[in-house]
Amino acid sequence: MSTAHTPDTQDAPLHTIDLIRKKRDGHTLDAREIAFLVSGAAAGSIPLEQLSAWLMAAWLRGLSLEEIRALTLAMRDSGDKFDPSRLGKTAVDKHSTGGVGDKTSFLVAPMAAACGVAVPMISGRALGHTGGTLDKLESIPGYRTALSLAEFETVLAHCGVSIVSQTPSLVPADRVLYALRDRTGTVESPGLICASILSKKLAAGLDALVLDVKTGSGAFLSKREDAEYLAALMVSTAEAAGTRTVALLTDMGQPLGRAAGNWIEIMECLELLHGKTPAESEDLRELSLTLAGWMIFLGGKAESETKGRQLAEATLEDGSALAVFTKMVEAQGGDSGIFSDPQAFHKPGASKVVNAWETGFIAEMDTTELGWAVQRTGAGREKAGEPVDAHAGIVFHARCEDFVKKGQPMATIFATTEAQLAEPISLLRKAITIAEEPPQPVPLVGRIFTREKAEAFLRDAVR
Ligand code: URA
Repeated sequence: MSTAHTPDTQDAPLHTIDLIRKKRDGHTLDAREIAFLVSGAAAGSIPLEQLSAWLMAAWLRGLSLEEIRALTLAMRDSGDKFDPSRLGKTAVDKHSTGGVGDKTSFLVAPMAAACGVAVPMISGRALGHTGGTLDKLESIPGYRTALSLAEFETVLAHCGVSIVSQTPSLVPADRVLYALRDRTGTVESPGLICASILSKKLAAGLDALVLDVKTGSGAFLSKREDAEYLAALMVSTAEAAGTRTVALLTDMGQPLGRAAGNWIEIMECLELLHGKTPAESEDLRELSLTLAGWMIFLGGKAESETKGRQLAEATLEDGSALAVFTKMVEAQGGDSGIFSDPQAFHKPGASKVVNAWETGFIAEMDTTELGWAVQRTGAGREKAGEPVDAHAGIVFHARCEDFVKKGQPMATIFATTEAQLAEPISLLRKAITIAEEPPQPVPLVGRIFTREKAEAFLRDAVR
C-alpha cells in the first residue's frame, strides 16, 4: 500500500489529494493540514467529492484527540463569530447530539431566557434519521433562521433568545460539512460530531454549555461506552476552548415525547409552554427541566442545578417561557397567530392510525428505524436543499413498557400523500417489538460529565 506524501516544511504547499491519502492510510493530520481542508470547505475551493472522500476516510480511520481539537477550532474560525458580551448577560446554550422527537430546544431556550440568561443558539437541520431544530421552526410560516449577526444580536437583546442556522458567514464550514455528512453516510463519528457541534457553540461565544448526549437505539452512537466517550470528548474540548461545559447522557431508546416531525413537535411544546402536563409528554418535560436547570445554574441565576430546575418549572407555570418563545418567533418573522389554535394549522396531506398487531408489552423500539419512518412521511428530506413537509410526521400513542391490546391505536402517521403512508407504516411495524414480558426500565438521565470527570475518563480511555 502506498504512503501519502507528507510535506516536510511548515510552508510547503498543501494538496487535498495528499490529505485524503494520508487519512485513508491511517496517518494523523496536523493543525495546518486540517485548517487547509476546513478553509477549502468554507470557501468552496475544495470540490465536494474530495471533501466527501476525506470525511469517509476520517469516519473509517477515526481522528486523534489533537485532530478533533484542531478540526473544531478551524471550523469555529471558518466565519464570523458572535460576541455576546454586549448583551450584558451570561450566554448559555444547550445542544443535543441528535434524536427522534428531540425538541427540548423549544422549551429549554425560552425557560433559560425567562430566567435571565442569554441563549444564542446556532442549530442544524435534519441529519440522518434525526430531525432538525431549524426544519421544525420553519414549519411556522415566516420564521427566518438565516439571520445576519446584527439581526441575531437584535433578537437576543429584545427576547433573550434567538435560534438561527449556520450561514455563509456564520460557521460556513459546518454548513457545508454537515449537509455533506448527511448524504455520504459519515454522520456517526465521535470526532466529526464533536467538531460539528462545538464549532457552532464556540462561534456563538458562549460562557457555558449544556450537552445532551444521546445513547440507545435512536442515537448516532447507540452504545453507552461510545456515547460516554463522545460526552467526555466534547466537554474536554469545549473547556479547553474556554467554555464551561457539562454533558448529560440521556436515553434515546424511544422517541422523546409523543410527536416526531415538524409542526407536530412545535405543537407538543406549545402545550407544555402553556403549563399543561400531558402524561405522554412527561419524559420531554422532565428532560427539558433538567437541562434548563443546568443552564440556569451555569448561567449564575441559581445556586444549584436543582434550584435552576425549580426556576425553570415556574416559567412554564406562569407563562413567562411561552411569552419569550412567542416574542422570539415574532422577532424572527414567524406568524405566532397560529399558536392560538395549533391543531387548526395542522393540515397533513394524508393520515392513518396504526393499531397494535398483538397484545403484550412494548418491549423494544428501534428508534433509528422509527426516525427513518418519520423521514419517509415527508417530514425529512432525501436530498440536500429539498423542502420538508411541515405537517408530516408520526404521533406515538404508546411507549416502551406500556401494555397494549391488539387493535389499540399505537401511532398516527401523517404523510404528504396517501402513497407515502405505506413505507413508514411498514418501518414502524418492524421497529416496534411487542412481547409477553415488559423490558427493564432505562433511566432518562444517566452519567453526568463535568470537566474533571471528562478528563479522567479520557485519561483512562487513552491508557
Ligand atoms: N448535531 C450537530 O450539530 N452535528 C452533529 O454532527 C450531530 C448533531
